[in-house]
Amino acid sequence: MRLKTKLSAAITLLVLVITTVLSWLYMTQLLQQHIEQAYQSTDVIAHQLQFATREALENGLRNRQINVNDPAALRSAVADSLRRDPGLAAFINSVISYSPTVIDVAIADRDGRGIITAPDPAQEDQLLPVRPDYATLLKSSLYRTIGVVFGAPRVYNLTLGLERDNQPFLTVRVGIRNTFLKNAFYPWLSDAFTYIALAIAISLVVAVFVANLALQPLAQISARLDALSQAEPAGELDSGASTDTVLQVSHKIERLGRRMRNVEEVFSALKENLDQILSNLQDGIMLFTRDARAVLVSRSVERFLSVNRDDVLGAEVHDIFDRHSLLGRTVRQAFDAGMSVVQEEIITETGRRVEISLDFIHDDRASDNGQSLGALLTLHDLESVREIESELELSRRMAAIGRLTAGVGHEVKNPINAIVVHLELLRSKMDSESGALRHLEIIQSEIRRLDRVVQTLVDFSRPVELQLQEQDLRRIVSSVLLLASAELETRNIHLVSELPDHPVIAKIDADLFKQALLNVVINGAQAMNQGGQLSVRLTEDGRTARLRIEDQGEGIPDDIRPHIFDLYFTTKREGSGIGLAMTYRILQLHNGQIDVESKTSVGTTFTLSIPVASLSELRLRGLLETNLPAFKGPLE
Ligand SMILES: Nc1ncnc2c1ncn2[C@@H]1O[C@H](COP(=O)(O)OP(=O)(O)OP(=O)(O)O)[C@@H](O)[C@H]1O
Ligand SMILES: [Mg+2]
Repeated sequence: MRLKTKLSAAITLLVLVITTVLSWLYMTQLLQQHIEQAYQSTDVIAHQLQFATREALENGLRNRQINVNDPAALRSAVADSLRRDPGLAAFINSVISYSPTVIDVAIADRDGRGIITAPDPAQEDQLLPVRPDYATLLKSSLYRTIGVVFGAPRVYNLTLGLERDNQPFLTVRVGIRNTFLKNAFYPWLSDAFTYIALAIAISLVVAVFVANLALQPLAQISARLDALSQAEPAGELDSGASTDTVLQVSHKIERLGRRMRNVEEVFSALKENLDQILSNLQDGIMLFTRDARAVLVSRSVERFLSVNRDDVLGAEVHDIFDRHSLLGRTVRQAFDAGMSVVQEEIITETGRRVEISLDFIHDDRASDNGQSLGALLTLHDLESVREIESELELSRRMAAIGRLTAGVGHEVKNPINAIVVHLELLRSKMDSESGALRHLEIIQSEIRRLDRVVQTLVDFSRPVELQLQEQDLRRIVSSVLLLASAELETRNIHLVSELPDHPVIAKIDADLFKQALLNVVINGAQAMNQGGQLSVRLTEDGRTARLRIEDQGEGIPDDIRPHIFDLYFTTKREGSGIGLAMTYRILQLHNGQIDVESKTSVGTTFTLSIPVASLSELRLRGLLETNLPAFKGPLE
C-alpha cells in the first residue's frame, strides 16, 4: 500500500474513532436525561393521582357507616367512592389522553386487585400483572439501559402507596412503556449517523490534503537526490518505476549509497597507494586543508615531530606544531602570515638539521586568487642526507680499496710463493745442528701467516658471482638459527624468533646471506658472556624486509663503533675481525643495508634490510585490483 493511502486511512480512522466515541458519550448522556425526565414527570402524575385518590376517598367515605372489620364491605365502599368521584375520573382521563409517556393508570387494593384501571376497565376486580419498577432503570448499567431502549416493548410501573392506620391500604400505579425512549432516540440516531458520515467524508479530504502536504518535502528530497546523483532523472528510475515518493527516495538513496561505496573503494585504493608511496619517502610530507587541518601525513613525519602519525591526522596546524620549538614556530608563523617558505634550514633542539618548505596551493580557476585551497609542507632531513652521502663515500672508497688490495694481494702472493720455495731450499742446505735453523723456522711461520692474511684479502676483494634466487627469508633465518643453536646453548642463551606467518620473498644468494646473518648472530652470542636473550625478528612492509638481531650483551663503546665494519678490526683475543666486514659486503651486494644501535651494558641491535621481491610487486598490483591473487611462491 502506498504511504499516501496509509496516511489518509490512518487519519480517517482516527476521525471515525473520535466521532464514534463522542457520539456514544453524547448518546448515553441523552439517554440518562430522557429516563430521568420521564421519571420526574410520571412521578408528578403519580403524586397527583395519589392526592386525588385520597380526596375521593375522604369525600366518598365521609357520611358512610362501614364495618371496618369486614374487608369485603370496606373494599366495596372504597371502590364505590373512587369510581363515583368525578374529579378522579377526569384526572385519570386527562393523564391517559395527554401524557406522552403514560400508557395506563391503575388504583389497586392491598392484594393487587384493580379498583380503577384505565383505559381498560375490564381489569377492574382482577389481579393486576406484576411489572418491573421504573425506578430500577435509573440505577441500571448503560448496557442494560440500552437493552431496554432497543429491546422488545415492555411496560414499567411507577407505584405509590396509600396507608391507613400505618398499614398499606391502596397502591397507585402509573404504567410507562419503554417505546417512548426508542421513539425519542431514532431521529437523534439517524442525525448522529449523518454527522459521522459527514465527518468521515471531510476527514478523508483533509487526510489526503495533509498526506500530500506531509509528503511534499520527500518529493523535494527526491529531486535533490536526483540533482546530487546527476545521472538519471526521476523519470528514468527503475523500469518497474514506482509512483510512491517514499519508495523512489529509498531507491535513490540506495543508488547513491552504491555510487558512494564505489567512490570510496577507488578512494581507499588510491589512498593506500599513496600511503605506500609516502611511507617509503625519506622526507616528511604533510598536506593541509584550507582551514589548516592535516589530511595527508607521511610516515616519516613521525621522525621529525616525534608524534604518532594518527594523532596528527585531522589536527589543526597550531595543535600539531609547538610554539616553543624553532621548527614549530617557523611553521606556525608561516601559516599565520600565509607566506610560503622556500627550503629554509633549521637546526632543531636535538641538533638535527632540517630543511623545511611550505607551499600554499591556489586554485587557478577561482576568481579570487587570495584564498588558498590548502598547503603542502615538506620536511627534509639534511642529517640523513649527509649520512647517506658519507655511506656512499665509504662504499666508493671500499670498492677502490678492494680493487687495490686485489692487485696488491696478487702481486704480493707471487713473491711470497718464491720466498717459501727458496726458504725450503735454504733449509735443505743448512746444517741441522745450526742455530740459524731456529731463525729460519720463525721466518717460515711468519711467512705462512702473511700468506694467510694475503689470501683472505684476495678472497675478500675478489669479485663475487652472486647466485640470486627468490627465497623465503623465513627459511633462511630458521636454518641460520639451527646452525647457531649449539653455540647459543653452550653459552646459556635463550633464543626468541619472530617470523611472519606469510612468506617473505627476496632475491638473494642463500649461502652468502646465511653467512652474513650467522656472523651477526654469533657476534651477539659472543657479546653475552653471562648468557641472556637473543631475539631475531623478521618484518616486511611490502618493499623492504628487515631482520633485527637484538642481544643483551655488553654493547659497543662509542669510540669503536665507527670501526666495527673495518676488515680485521676485532676486540676479541681469538677474533679475526672479518665477520662484520663480510656481512657489510654481502648486504651491499644485495642492495641492502646494515644498521647498528647499541647501548653499553644494555645490548646491541643490528638491523639487516634488503628489498623484497615478487610478493611486494604482487601486493602493489593487488592494491589497484580489488581481488588479490593468492601468492604461490617458488618455495614449498
Ligand atoms: N653484538 C656485539 N656486541 C658487542 N660488540 C660487538 C658485537 N658485534 C660486533 N662487535 C664488535 O665489533 C668487532 C668486530 O666484529 P667482527 O664480527 O667483525 O669481528 P670479530 O667478531 O671480532 O671476529 P670474527 O671475524 O671471528 O667475527 C668485534 O670484535 C666486537 O668488538
Ligand atoms: Mg664476529
